[in-house]
Amino acid sequence: MGTPKQLLRDRLAQAFEIVAGEPVDPVVQRSQYADYQSNAALGLAKRMSANPREVAAKVLAAADLDDLVERTEISGPGFINLTVRSEVLGRLVGTVGADGRLGVPTAAHPETVVIDYSAPNTAKEMHVGHLRSTIIGDAAVRVTEWLGHQAIKRNHLGDWGTPFGMLIEHLLDVGEAEAAAELSVGDLSDFYTSARRKFDASDEFKERSRRRVVLLQGGDEATSRLWRLLVAESKRYFMRVYDSLDVRLVESDFVGESAYNDNLASVVEDLDRLGLLQVSDGAECVFPEGFVGRDGRPVPLIARKSDGGYGYATTDLAAIRNRLTELGATRLLYVVGIPQQQHFAMVFATARAAGWLAPPSRATHVGFGSVLGSDGKTLRSRVGGTIKLVDLLNEAVERATAAIAEKNPDLDAEARAEVARAVGIGAVKYADLSTDRARDYTFDFDRMLSFDGNTAPYLQYAHARIRSIFRRGNVIPARDGEPVHIVELAERTLAIELLAFPDIIAEVADTVEFHRLANYLYTLSTAFTAFYERCPVLKTEEPSRSSRLALCDLTAQVLATGLDLLGIAAPDRM
Ligand code: ARG
Repeated sequence: MGTPKQLLRDRLAQAFEIVAGEPVDPVVQRSQYADYQSNAALGLAKRMSANPREVAAKVLAAADLDDLVERTEISGPGFINLTVRSEVLGRLVGTVGADGRLGVPTAAHPETVVIDYSAPNTAKEMHVGHLRSTIIGDAAVRVTEWLGHQAIKRNHLGDWGTPFGMLIEHLLDVGEAEAAAELSVGDLSDFYTSARRKFDASDEFKERSRRRVVLLQGGDEATSRLWRLLVAESKRYFMRVYDSLDVRLVESDFVGESAYNDNLASVVEDLDRLGLLQVSDGAECVFPEGFVGRDGRPVPLIARKSDGGYGYATTDLAAIRNRLTELGATRLLYVVGIPQQQHFAMVFATARAAGWLAPPSRATHVGFGSVLGSDGKTLRSRVGGTIKLVDLLNEAVERATAAIAEKNPDLDAEARAEVARAVGIGAVKYADLSTDRARDYTFDFDRMLSFDGNTAPYLQYAHARIRSIFRRGNVIPARDGEPVHIVELAERTLAIELLAFPDIIAEVADTVEFHRLANYLYTLSTAFTAFYERCPVLKTEEPSRSSRLALCDLTAQVLATGLDLLGIAAPDRM
């Protein structure tokens, strides 16, 4: 059936085509002055060297809108303002709540989408950048799957490379059992720093580490076993973080850098055969077009180092080849911080040059900014080192527990614990997802856990409050597809918001920008509050009572579904 915006776009597109003699996108948007507006007459008039208001008038004359729209208006230099008929809104809003899809269709052409996210490094603490990647990546997985695509999760763990020489030697020094214990409780930074310190201080240790790397790369069995032990203990710790974060990552999604070891040589061969390699300072490099450094010289992507070894870039080339040619993905998302933007642009350019990445397939670097502390600097622990993620999450839940106990002292202990987890973890995720990901955001417990403003607790509370209306009235949502009777302005405004959900989801799927969904949910709950203040629900006569209950139910459904897509739980009572 479509959203009002889609219906208007289709009708206006026909009219524009009649006037222009060619297809024109009417660019229908929400409007401050009416329900929707189209500004496309301005651009068209320019191309036709005509008066924009006259063009707008011609479009309206050619448009078949009567059954949808009760009022049209040409305003300003030639904007077309459209006010949708309340019956139309009521009919649409009556139907979307029935099947749980809330008007959002599943993809007409399901794709295989590979989502590369989280990707911490073995034997190193996850930092807040990995937290952001995990939260954003998880939301991307949820939206992708909800739309009916196949999401392949790839946790591109940093589990290979020269640091393993020193890590394994350090492990031997402290003893296996001791090392395993240290790693499994998440003392990853200590382990890594101690190894690093010895490496920097002792030539003997440095030499041992170097020899160990050679053994590891040569496939020495005893060394490989120790490496597997390090990786397994780290994974166990990372899984604990994922579990407390409530993200969909599972063990089988760990496909770390080492998984591509057997493909690195063949990637370099491919590139060589295609004539894409150039030797520079002894290393075999790709110089994709358009990448120049500050010194004005072309920047290389190193395929094979001068010592014959492979690095981060080769692994990413093997991974992208695997994802496109073997997994059959047509969309690739890389949820990695903005500092790696150039790296990914070069990997994509190389994949294009090699013919692995060709339309309709596309790859996107879903970049994000840093997490800052209240001092405006990158978030660190009080003692100055990297913050331990589990500590951060535990603190969020603890603070939420206190807030919930204060807000609702009647909640029993079990329910309180569950709600506190939903609120604490939800608050951390929402603070991240509600800011434009390209921007840095300030980590602030007080703000993210506040029950006022654009926060998870505010939205969760709005949802629980709507559910409580049904409990109090002892009614079950009808979801019978009956048209909603729209009389009051506040009902109308709420209906328009509710009907915009599919438009927002489409935008989010396209841009991978979750703040659009977050802002929408916040606007929706504001519209609900205004409605609820003006329109009694349980104490009103039919047909308003059923209609208003339907609006309440739909709002709760959209809030719960929207939050779920962000990875945030919406408890029924709080
Ligand atoms: N392990 C890397 C880091 O911590 C992130 C890996 C991102 N993914 C990738 N395919 N390169 O910075």
